[in-house]
Amino acid sequence: MKLGVCYYPEHWPEQMWAQDATRMRDLGLSLVRIGEFAWSRIEPVRGRFVWDWLDRAINTLADAGLAIVLGTPSATPPRWLIRDAPSILAVGTDGRLRGFGSRRHYCFSSDIYRTEACRIAAAMAERYGRHPAISTWQIDNEYGCHGTVLSYSAAAIAAFRVWLANRYGSIDSLNVAWGNVFWSMEYPDFETIEPPVATVTEANPAHRLDWRRFSSDQVIRFNRAQIEAIRPNAPGAQFVHNTMGFFTDYDHRALARDLDVVGWDSYPLGFLDSFEFPDAEKQQWCRTGHPDIAAFHHDLYRGIGTASFGVMEQQAGPVNWAPHNPAPLSGMVRFWTLEAFAHGADFVAYFRWRQCPFAQEQMHSGLRLPDDRPDIGFDEIASLSDDFARLHAIPSNTRTQRSAVALMFDYESNWLVEIQPHGENFRYRELIFQTYTALRGLGMDVDIIGADAEGTGYRLIVIPCLPILDSSRLDRLRATGAQILFGPRTGSKTAHFAIPDTLAPGDLGTAMGFSIPRVESLRTGVTIGVHGEAIEGAITHWREHACVRTASVAAYTTDGAPALLEAGDFAYLAGWPDAVLLDSVLRRQATRASVPIRQLPTGLRIRRRGDLHFAFNAGPQRVTIPFRENIQFLLGSADLEVAGVAAWIELT
Ligand code: GAL
Repeated sequence: MKLGVCYYPEHWPEQMWAQDATRMRDLGLSLVRIGEFAWSRIEPVRGRFVWDWLDRAINTLADAGLAIVLGTPSATPPRWLIRDAPSILAVGTDGRLRGFGSRRHYCFSSDIYRTEACRIAAAMAERYGRHPAISTWQIDNEYGCHGTVLSYSAAAIAAFRVWLANRYGSIDSLNVAWGNVFWSMEYPDFETIEPPVATVTEANPAHRLDWRRFSSDQVIRFNRAQIEAIRPNAPGAQFVHNTMGFFTDYDHRALARDLDVVGWDSYPLGFLDSFEFPDAEKQQWCRTGHPDIAAFHHDLYRGIGTASFGVMEQQAGPVNWAPHNPAPLSGMVRFWTLEAFAHGADFVAYFRWRQCPFAQEQMHSGLRLPDDRPDIGFDEIASLSDDFARLHAIPSNTRTQRSAVALMFDYESNWLVEIQPHGENFRYRELIFQTYTALRGLGMDVDIIGADAEGTGYRLIVIPCLPILDSSRLDRLRATGAQILFGPRTGSKTAHFAIPDTLAPGDLGTAMGFSIPRVESLRTGVTIGVHGEAIEGAITHWREHACVRTASVAAYTTDGAPALLEAGDFAYLAGWPDAVLLDSVLRRQATRASVPIRQLPTGLRIRRRGDLHFAFNAGPQRVTIPFRENIQFLLGSADLEVAGVAAWIELT
């Protein structure tokens, strides 16, 4: 695995560059990402390109033996461009232009902006496309960051109408598909359709779902256009984009189809503090991060592309953007790096080389302080070369193998549930993450797959919620021969956001012999007990009432109605499980699928890569690895301090 760093030569006096480059190399880094926000320095005035500084920066880094990931600067259109073409700005839900003065202010649907972004990308490719040190191009930076996938600009509205016309062919089909007879919402033609915003009460969910699909497609189109602009002048180039954590506003699988490398930006402490974790968990994991946050994203991003994946920005100290920004516990930078490796990553690049003393991110740490002394992450990174030397002594440390267990995570399902939660505590991402955590707590390696994955080769597939489950998806799943556990709301909608003719769960219900005539969303705190053979616990948030002709494995304790249904290899959980119920259901399904279970103490996680086995202790206390027969440790030992990592091989 390669280590690298994000570097902004334009922020520092040129005299520092050579020493920075040498220090990077001496630290064991071999990769450096530059350029992604430097438009105003590359082209200060339209058409006047200033390459000399970037030439020297690239050559200085290359001379130190570093491979360069060069970013296109389209996340930061400069002021002169906004002045000349203000229509490229995105528009918020309030109808106001998103102003200049930070970043990501452009609209994905602006043809003018797409042309401009391709123009600067092509100019860079012409200049550097054949540079021997530049093998990879990062397109833009973190699509959608700061809530920027959706834009309500005139360009977006016009493009949406064209997108709808292509999808539906005629306005009559659209009116039928959306159910616009309801509330007299029928449109006379495509030109009268607006985005689903500023309506008096909620807009039609079918309209909203298509708006989300359209907006996602615009991101993919924008990205592809830049790749096409670069490719002619950069033969053999690899293309990467850096995606985010817990971010679902566009379909990352569709994006990944156009990429050679999937990068993601890992800020475990920032994510913990910013997302919907209970306060107690935020406190408990504040310096280590929740044990599954980084792992979940590694498993997600490993699976969305066809080729390589890694971390393009790794937190190495406090960030500046979460509600609270603690420092990582000593050892966590090493922990996160080895964890990425264990999950199959090909590279980890730290954010950023040096803390910048000015502008928005002046409180964000780097590997070095603004006065150039080393900061907390620096020494830990230095210690990693020892670790990797030991790991690389084992020849089969190659990319990770397929896991026995797959978890389905689908972007469109998230949009659907966000659009119509039906209960404010029904949050798709939370259900997925909770299921992932439960599987990992049982010692399982997990692959995360999409709704259209083949799914062959898995023994257990867990689908916590898949509202649109059409017959082709169902046939594919059936063909896997795996044990499949479906969760609430699966099969509950058609592709046009309507209730299926046979009621939920649609074709799955027909196959399994039941339907769900009624669902209830429950206030937080309301629980209903569930009991069955080897099944115990309760449901919260959501309950479904099933009308059955099929076997019930567990029932609601209040009325004896089925809670876990089963037919052949399929099982269906008719509610949102609490942790106890989820644990017992997953154990049962894993046993049926012959997937081994290893109950882990809180905070301990294990993971296999090739013949290497890893254990990571995220705390809150020292733990002893419960299984240690016939193993030889390469890193650490069976006793793991908080932030400790162990790696071993099994002796045969
Ligand atoms: C990322 C972004 C970087 C920087 C970093 C700070 O979201 O890509 O440019 O802002 O966060 O943590």
